[in-house]
Parts: sequence; structure tokens; C-alpha cells
Amino acid sequence: MKVLVVGGGGREHALAWKISQSPRVKKVFCAPGNAGIAEIAECVDIKPENIPAICELVRREKIDMTVVGPEAPLVEGLVDELEKLGYPVFGPRQRAAEIEGSKVLAKEIMHKYGIPTAGYKVFAEAGAARRYIKEAGAPCVVKADGLATGKGVIVAGDRETALGAVHSIMEERVFGTAGNRIVVEECLQGEEASFLAFTDGRNVLPMIAAQDHKRVYDNDQGPNTGGMGAYAPAPVLTPALQEEVMEKVMIPAVQGLAAEDRPYLGVLYAGLMITNKGPKVLEFNARFGDPEAQPILMLLESDLVDVMEATLAGELNKVSLRWKTGAAVCVVLASGGYPGPYRKGEVITGLENMPDNVVVFHAGTARRAERIVTAGGRVLGVTALGEDIPRAIELVYRAVAGISFNGMHYRKDIGQKALK
Ligand code: AMP
Ligand code: GLY
Repeated sequence: MKVLVVGGGGREHALAWKISQSPRVKKVFCAPGNAGIAEIAECVDIKPENIPAICELVRREKIDMTVVGPEAPLVEGLVDELEKLGYPVFGPRQRAAEIEGSKVLAKEIMHKYGIPTAGYKVFAEAGAARRYIKEAGAPCVVKADGLATGKGVIVAGDRETALGAVHSIMEERVFGTAGNRIVVEECLQGEEASFLAFTDGRNVLPMIAAQDHKRVYDNDQGPNTGGMGAYAPAPVLTPALQEEVMEKVMIPAVQGLAAEDRPYLGVLYAGLMITNKGPKVLEFNARFGDPEAQPILMLLESDLVDVMEATLAGELNKVSLRWKTGAAVCVVLASGGYPGPYRKGEVITGLENMPDNVVVFHAGTARRAERIVTAGGRVLGVTALGEDIPRAIELVYRAVAGISFNGMHYRKDIGQKALK
């Protein structure tokens, strides 16, 4: 079969890598892909949000299954459009993807179906939000309702920061219409974890738990990023906690979405805070996490295409996921300046001769003549599979030491929380 992966980051490289290993797959396409994906797939220069062009590609190449990586095309309705044309596609439809596309909707569903989350209030008007923040005080968290490329959440330690967030989101409109409404919520304390599951709208098949590293510097210092590294399995989610998350979060969310006439098919990702009162949901995502997909897919033994097809057929009850033993750790190598402005076009060296248990997933890379150059903020996701977390950490940093480009920076402490 022919499979199209939509997107061009580390997550999509991991998806294309895993999908291309299926004996059933003859060819993988990727739109737009990157320099690493180009080595295993045919990359077509189409933006993920260009829905008509993607539909045309699927028609022209007679794609048997499309897999959507990022949130924007899901929220824009790419799945609905392909389905209308009769093409199989893995990912939630627009109304279901709104669980990520609208933080207000996510909160309302959590509230209605008793899913544990931070207490919150919704505001459509800056003045009312300001009055509330002045009264309730800090710390608090201010979130733009809509998609904001991962930048729409401000964890405010003091009132001034919270009021500044209200001003920039609702009055300066830094995220456009995503800031028509905001959620102001209680600030939760604890360790974060990423819990992902396949779901066909009825059955929920959990993946191995992972942990992301959102802040740019070691020891969780500095501003938030898309994610500077991830590992799996994450011991913070003990088997008992995983069961609790299934019962209190994942199953009620899938059932609640179905009851709201938003049947959910695809990967549902719960971003969790493990508080001393148990796991609480920070956010839902309508897709694989990036970088979490990289260690998770490196550990997945099962044929991903089989699992995706079972999802589309509503037959996940017939599937059990098989995992490799051991652990996987992914370290993101980022451009100088990221998550702020950064330069592109820096030549990357040292990508050859990786050991068998290390894969360098590309994110922001491009090919320029014979060279591979940087083309984004997150450039590479170096991912290693080891017998356990300490050995995977050792392997991954040995591989990282051989790679370089001007301005390259990365966290030195990926996976350390798992060792505590
Ligand atoms: P989100 O996009 O909603 O996951 O938010 C991005 C990041 O902000 C999360 O990964 C957390 O680190 C932080 N965050 C979000 N909501 C809260 C909260 N209620 N309490 C504390 N931190 C939060
Ligand atoms: N790594 C966080 C996310 O994918 O949203």
C-alpha cells in the first residue's frame, strides 16, 4: 500500500520511519517532509494546511492511507475533506480535533464528564478577566482558547505577568482570533507526563507513558518550547496511575466526545500533571506528541499500519500493542536562539555512522546540494534505545557528541527525572 504522512517535523520522521517498516507498505509519501524523511519517503512540497493540494496529491497518487501529524490541518478539517472524497485517513475529524483546537471546549467537556483538571474560568472580555485576576491573585495560568503554535499558555507567577498575558492575548491579539476567549486556571504543582492512546471512538488502547521536557534549559529553566526531549517509559506514571488515568481521563473523554456528537478516531494525547491529589489534565492534544512520538515509536514493536487500520475499522478491541523491552530517550538539538528567533542554513555535520540502536530523526532540516542544513528551531531528535533509561541516556549523549552545527544547543538532563 501507499501511505502519506502529513507534516515535516521529528514526529513525522518517526511516523514515516515506523510506517516504512511495515511489510505491507510499498511506498511512503510525505508533505512536506524534511531532509531526513526524504531518505525514506517521497517528499512533496505542500504545506500541511493546504487541504485542497493534499486532497489532490492523495487522488493523484492513489494513496491508501493518509496519516496526519500536526494539529493545524486536523483542526482545519483535513480528515473530513479526505473522508468526503472516500480516502482512508488516520486522525480525528474537525469536531473531534476541537478538543485541542479550543481550550474552552476541552475544559467544558472535562467539567461535564468529571475528568480531573485545574479549576478555571472563561473570559470573552479583557476587563472581566483583569478584575478576576486582581481578585483571585497569582499564581495562575492564562491560556488563549485557540491554537497558538504551543505559545498560547502563560504560567504566571505574579499578577503583573497574568495581566500582561491578558493584554497581549485579548487586546494586542498576538495570536489573532485564538485570543477571542481565554481560560484562566488554577496553577497545578507536580511532575508532568504525556499519556497517549489509540482510540476508534469506543475502544481505548494506551501507549507506553512518556515524559516531555518543555523548558529550554536544564532543570526546567527558561521559556517553554515545543519540547526539548522526551523519554519512555516514564516511571512517574506507575501501573496504578496508568489505570487511574484510563478510568478517570481517557475512557470518559472518548465516551464524552462520542456523547457530544464528536466521535474521536486517532491518537488522543492527555498532557497530565501528577499532583499530590492524583493526575489532572493540563490539556488534550488530537495527535501524537512531538518529541514524544520519537521514543514511543522507537519502542513500539507492533506494526503501526495494522494498528491504524484497526482504528479506522473500529476494531481496536482485537489489537494488543507489543513493545520492545528497555527504554528510549530522545534529545532535541535546537538552533541558536530557539525558542526565540534563530538562523537557518547552518551546515550540520556528523550525521553518518550512527550505531544500530540510535536513530537521528530530522525536524527542521533541508538539503542544500550535498549538504544537510538547519531549517527550523528544533533541528534533530537524536533517539536511542537502551536496556534501561540510564543506558539509553548514555547512548544518546554519545551520539549527540558527534553531531554539530553553528549555534547548536540542547539539554544535558533529558531523562534525569526518571532516575530519581
Ligand atoms: P498546555 O499547552 O496547556 O499543555 O500548556 C503548556 C505547559 O504549560 C504545560 O506543559 C505545563 O507546563 C504548563 N501548564 C499548563 N496548564 C498548567 C496549570 N494549570 N498549572 C501549571 N502549569 C500548567
Ligand atoms: N510535546 C508536546 C506536544 O507535542 O504538544
